[in-house]
Amino acid sequence: MADTKKLFIKTYGCQMNVYDSERMAEAMGGAGYETTQTPEDADMILLNTCHIREKAAEKVYSELGRMKALKTDKPDLKIGVAGCVAQAEGQEIMKRQPAVDLVVGPQAYHRLPEMEELIRKGKRALDTDFPEEDKFEKLKSRPKAKRAPAAFLTVQEGCDKFCAFCVVPYTRGAEVSRPVDRVITEARDLVERGVREITLLGQNVNAYHGEGKNGKAWSLADLIWELDKVEGLERIRFTTSHPNDMQDDLIAAHGECKKLMPYLHLPVQSGSDKILKRMNRSHTAESYIRLIERIRGARPDLLLSGDFIVGFPEETEEDFQATLDLIKEVKYGQAYSFKYSTRPGTPAAERPLVDEAEASDRLQRLQALLTQQQRDIQDAMVGREVSVLLERDGRQEGQMVGKSEYLHSVHLDAVGHKIGDIVKVKIVESKVNSLTGALI
Ligand code: 5AD
Ligand code: SF4
Repeated sequence: MADTKKLFIKTYGCQMNVYDSERMAEAMGGAGYETTQTPEDADMILLNTCHIREKAAEKVYSELGRMKALKTDKPDLKIGVAGCVAQAEGQEIMKRQPAVDLVVGPQAYHRLPEMEELIRKGKRALDTDFPEEDKFEKLKSRPKAKRAPAAFLTVQEGCDKFCAFCVVPYTRGAEVSRPVDRVITEARDLVERGVREITLLGQNVNAYHGEGKNGKAWSLADLIWELDKVEGLERIRFTTSHPNDMQDDLIAAHGECKKLMPYLHLPVQSGSDKILKRMNRSHTAESYIRLIERIRGARPDLLLSGDFIVGFPEETEEDFQATLDLIKEVKYGQAYSFKYSTRPGTPAAERPLVDEAEASDRLQRLQALLTQQQRDIQDAMVGREVSVLLERDGRQEGQMVGKSEYLHSVHLDAVGHKIGDIVKVKIVESKVNSLTGALI
């Protein structure tokens, strides 16, 4: 009988976790595991967790409760917790949920295969180190399986910014950039396997400063220009960025690099200078708006995306209004907005909270405005010509679905085309969450 075991991974949170889950699956592939979509079939379950807001972290414990029940029928089932909750609360998880066999932090998951051996012997394993070795190098052996046309590639991890509300500097650690040649090697490998679009990932990706080919630190723009030379790679994106790290060369690249897509996720969090200061953001509403003007100067059709927090400690109605004013001035094509969530150990956790009902009301008003802007910007696409990277088949015969350069989902009749093709399309209709296009 073949000795293949099955691994079920559930991923929470950001795109970096999606990338990490893929890499963990590959690492476990070397240890005789193939992935399954059904937890009931699994010999090992891994929850790749997110700690960014309280709700995200709490979900992990309720999911663990459910997964534990599967052990009744399958005593050999192993349960592991990876990601940022593992990093922040590893010991606590082990205590609170005895069914957990393994806890592994985001910087230690290249050690998963060894840990798996250990837990197969009936031990429990916890590793939340920030080791010296490069986990990505340890994870080098990728199977040469075909890939979907759009992929993530982590180039930078961690954050040195210490925004007062954020756990990332604690869970992901200090900023580290991968060397240019390793990124390029991984990009070439992805392209060989069918990838046409790469999104460069980092918690603070525009602070990228990896070792370049000349031994000097290269900027994100330098890296993008090097990727621009990779034949077969057609589209480059990057996320997430901090306003203070938008250097001139990166702004210029938005105007000059054809492969760099006209989409930018640039969180501002708040439009009130008082709140921005207390958030330790080290930029003002005004400096952010000027920055956006410069970027749009380089790339006028840029679609802007942002993150917002409402109800940060001591936020008044006036502060909130300043956020609405900023949004009205900037205009976002895409946005993510959150009610402030206290994270233990962060500086803001010491500050007095805004009334819960008030915060909810602000979130609603904020989202109403953002949704309207997204709608307007999406509706304005009707009649325009875009290019669409075909990512999957649609529901109807001959229909395919892909993304425009602005990251809008586009449905179209694409008879004769295949997944991975980039086609010219005229937008004919704007629906709730997608556009409809016709081949040109
Ligand atoms: N509460 C609410 N939102 C948060 N974010 C980060 N930390 C918190 C928190 N404690 C949001 C920020 C960030 C995004 C990834 O999550 O807007 O940009
Ligand atoms: Fe968190 Fe701020 Fe770093 Fe973003 S820049 S990861 S919000 S500390």
